[in-house]
Amino acid sequence: MKKFIIAPSVLSANYMNLKNDLTQCLENDINWIHYDVMDYDFVPNLTFGSKILQDITSQIKMNIDIHFMVKVKTKNFTDFFVEYIKANPQMMTMHIESMNAKETKLFIDLCKKNNIKASLAVSPQTPIKKIIKYLPIIDNILVMTVEPGFGGQSFIEHAAGKIGLLRKIIDQNNYKTTIEVDGGINSETSKIVKDYGVDIIVAGSYLFGQKDFAQRAKKLAGGN
Ligand code: DX5
Ligand code: ZN
Repeated sequence: MKKFIIAPSVLSANYMNLKNDLTQCLENDINWIHYDVMDYDFVPNLTFGSKILQDITSQIKMNIDIHFMVKVKTKNFTDFFVEYIKANPQMMTMHIESMNAKETKLFIDLCKKNNIKASLAVSPQTPIKKIIKYLPIIDNILVMTVEPGFGGQSFIEHAAGKIGLLRKIIDQNNYKTTIEVDGGINSETSKIVKDYGVDIIVAGSYLFGQKDFAQRAKKLAGGN
């Protein structure tokens, strides 16, 4: 049976209790976390920067998946990522909608140069034709099934259909690209995305702060 990677979104963790929340993940065989960076510009919300991530990775050994929901404004595009790279993330994701073609290329090259998986995200309204040409050169594509910006929103089913289309293109061409889904995932919606052929499942409010975290984590990780 296929094993899915579960990446709990730190956005829904309790920051007064972060170490316990992350330890709970490890105790339940979850060794990825999804770290949502928001800038109050690309999205109408503001979260955390690189310092908290560096503190996390200096104390806990987990694979980090950074989801940048930002419009980079540094004069030199790649400067923005320097402090995040110091935290040794396994994967960095930027939204295709927040970059021009030159920046997209710079971002992918920067990830490769630093041995970090290069990932591009698509918001619900963005058609996959915008991303197809990048599939052979990126490691992961993140399909958003909510509008980026907030945890706890409802799953947008039509956006999830993109996972099925991507699965076909990736398999037909023998690309190695993984497919990740983010937004509104719970025990029901996870079945839909698994059927479409997802590899990595992000879940925030469904997991953190829930008494039955262990059962919920098991449900997400298992097959349908
Ligand atoms: C939303 C973020 C998500 C968010 C998911 O913009 O990218 O990672 O934390 O939260 P849930 O799982 O509650 O929809
Ligand atoms: Zn996210």
